[in-house]
Amino acid sequence: MKVIDLRSDTVTKPSQEMRAAIAAAEVGDDVYGEDPTVNRLEALAAEKLGKEAAIYVCSGTQSNLLALMSHCERGDEYIVGQQGHTYKYEGGGAAVLGSIQPQPLDYEPDGSLDLAKVEGAIKPDDPHFARTRLLCLENTQAGKPLPLDYLKRARDFTSSRGLGLHLDGARVFNAAVHQGVPVTEVSRHFDSISVCLSKGLGAPVGSVLCGSKDLIGRAHRWRKVVGGGMRQAGLLAAAGIYALEHNVEGLAKDHENAKALAAGLSGIDSVKVAPAQTNMVYMTVETQRSARLRDFMKERGILISGQGSIRLVTHLDIDRQDIDRFVGAVKEFFTAAAKAA
Ligand SMILES: Cc1ncc(COP(=O)(O)O)c(C=O)c1O
Repeated sequence: MKVIDLRSDTVTKPSQEMRAAIAAAEVGDDVYGEDPTVNRLEALAAEKLGKEAAIYVCSGTQSNLLALMSHCERGDEYIVGQQGHTYKYEGGGAAVLGSIQPQPLDYEPDGSLDLAKVEGAIKPDDPHFARTRLLCLENTQAGKPLPLDYLKRARDFTSSRGLGLHLDGARVFNAAVHQGVPVTEVSRHFDSISVCLSKGLGAPVGSVLCGSKDLIGRAHRWRKVVGGGMRQAGLLAAAGIYALEHNVEGLAKDHENAKALAAGLSGIDSVKVAPAQTNMVYMTVETQRSARLRDFMKERGILISGQGSIRLVTHLDIDRQDIDRFVGAVKEFFTAAAKAA
């Protein structure tokens, strides 16, 4: 029986075609700048995102860390969402390794940060305070694509206040595909953007950080410092090239599957579900039932995670039949629970 893994879009396995691209990759020592496949991936990513340069790194966490350390110095501050990945889920790396103070703010319901609240959080130029240098947004944020007009306002705002603007664009291609625009319509507003190749795009490893030559030069130095210099990394970069060239348009299928998933769940009384925009669906069940639901699903070869609010993520290895099987199993669980009550 096929295992249906809805915990994240990071769980995909490379396709046969991607594996063939990996096997055929020309390699060299990337620490010497001599891996032709890494160089090709970096050029391709920079071109696709409309930036001067890009750097290939092992993870989204490292990509964001290098960005923050390249924008900010010791004693600087960046403004970020309270639930932002760089703030909450990356081990506090900016503070731990960069001596950069985060200033978290609550996200608005659409995943944006209210620019008036950002304004209020900027510190005066005074030795009592850290120096506010950067605003960091996330797109998609919990599956929500940030409105394009908001991005323009965020750019105008940060430029007028002398702040840099970084995007944790782990899933930026999901946003662009949903909005029906080239990804440059999103990336053009940002000084730097981190893109994960190992989420919806289906590569086994890696992210790219894109920005100006200057910024990427600084990131290059920090990558070495944090031990991120890789040698014959072309084997991995080949998967990244394959992902960028073949797996972007297919994200629309993941979004359709997420919509079908949300629609299927909306017919079940004991489940609350928010409409899906990209590849994430949030379903809410009574917290004390979460663990039993998780076990029930696991017995049926379906993997989910979360307590109360359960995030379900569609991806390359999920098809429509899997969605139907999942919705059927949730119905079965709650029908049995109602009978037992
Ligand atoms: C929004 C966001 N940013 C960054 C990351 C970090 O990526 P990685 O797991 O490759 O470090 C993740 C990972 O789930 C993410 O969801």
